[in-house]
Amino acid sequence: MPHDFMPGLAGVPAAKSAVSDVDGEKGLLEYRGIRVEDLCSRSTYLETAYLLLFGSLPSSSQLTKWTQDITRHRRVKFSIIDLMKCLPEQGHPMDALQAAVAALGMFYPGRNVKDVENNYWSAVRLIAKLPTIVAAWARLRHGDDPVPPRDDLGFNENFLYMLTESAPLPLWTEIFDDCLILHAEHTMNASTFTGLVTASTMADPYTVVASAIGALKGPLHGGANEEVVEMLKEIGSPAAVREYVQLRMQQKKRLMGFGHRVYKVKDPRATVLQVLCERLFAECGASPIYEIALEVERVAGDYLNGKGIYPNVDFYSGIIYDKMGIAPDLFTPLFAMARVSGWLAHWLEQLRENKLFRPDQIYAGAHNRPYVPVNER
Ligand code: CMC
Repeated sequence: MPHDFMPGLAGVPAAKSAVSDVDGEKGLLEYRGIRVEDLCSRSTYLETAYLLLFGSLPSSSQLTKWTQDITRHRRVKFSIIDLMKCLPEQGHPMDALQAAVAALGMFYPGRNVKDVENNYWSAVRLIAKLPTIVAAWARLRHGDDPVPPRDDLGFNENFLYMLTESAPLPLWTEIFDDCLILHAEHTMNASTFTGLVTASTMADPYTVVASAIGALKGPLHGGANEEVVEMLKEIGSPAAVREYVQLRMQQKKRLMGFGHRVYKVKDPRATVLQVLCERLFAECGASPIYEIALEVERVAGDYLNGKGIYPNVDFYSGIIYDKMGIAPDLFTPLFAMARVSGWLAHWLEQLRENKLFRPDQIYAGAHNRPYVPVNER
């Protein structure tokens, strides 16, 4: 049966899903039918993760059990820490995360993906352990011992504590939680699709998440947040923005943190992140790169808004993390820590009616070429 070729599978549905929905024209994002803005103002990351995975908001007792299960599985085996110690310190944290997550699969018997109980514990372990791995790598690469998780601290507070060995400001914990909610899920993006392709072979969930992490790393996907902050620092001041943007546009180079395959208006997550920026800077002092970012959004709008290109989720997130003193190369791992719940929600959904992904291609090569022996070529 002939098909039209759609580069990047743009507009081609790859799954039927009830996990989340994006309206790219109106700039709306819902998780299981609930607007992401509502979740940010009223839910928590862990509650949102439950919603994504299991389809509805948890009852109070379900939430208590879910939180306890996650809290009890935050520790990682010393062998995983030893494994990370063997990785080059200059290596990218996304590579360390991918390696550690792939290795986790060797420690936990999650191979039988038809076992619902096993799948639950795999999801718990992955959501619980990713922050511990990210924080451990952030310290190990500087020669410091990892800080073990503290059971008396909530999910976000504990992560920020493991990173710095000091209690974060309550506002940081709150804002960080909203950032995790905003990054938790986003329909059929490149990393989710990658995870589902792996999952369709009935591979275990650790392998599914490790493949999704690999796809998230690229600068056209999650890696953009790191590049945005580098770009803003390179620009240096709001006065230098116009010349920088003009030059980039003349050179036909992309502005990182702008544009989206689905959104043709401003990404609603960027709007919420901007509100979070304002709250953070009102309490903790201004951020020079935020002022530059506002100017970039204004100036770039003259060139890009007409093409439906606006700031995306990656434009303002790094500015928040930068203010919290988090290193730029950890921004994408933070994205992964949040997105793991979305990946797992799609994985569980797909398992109910799995079909191996095996797309077609349009062959554009030759046929019937003679083999020429090497001495005659
Ligand atoms: N800056 C300047 N021009 C752009 C940009 C940008 N950021 N994004 C798209 N365009 C232009 C592109 O040059 C092309 O122009 P023309 O038609 O004149 O050749 C047109 O818009 C269409 O580009 P495309 O690459 O075919 O569009 P797409 O829907 O495949 O792009 C995208 C989506 C995210 C890959 C792209 O917008 C991009 O590269 N953005 C920068 C990287 C980035 O911020 N990525 C994060 C995406 S959102 C969060 C996530 O997924 O992690």
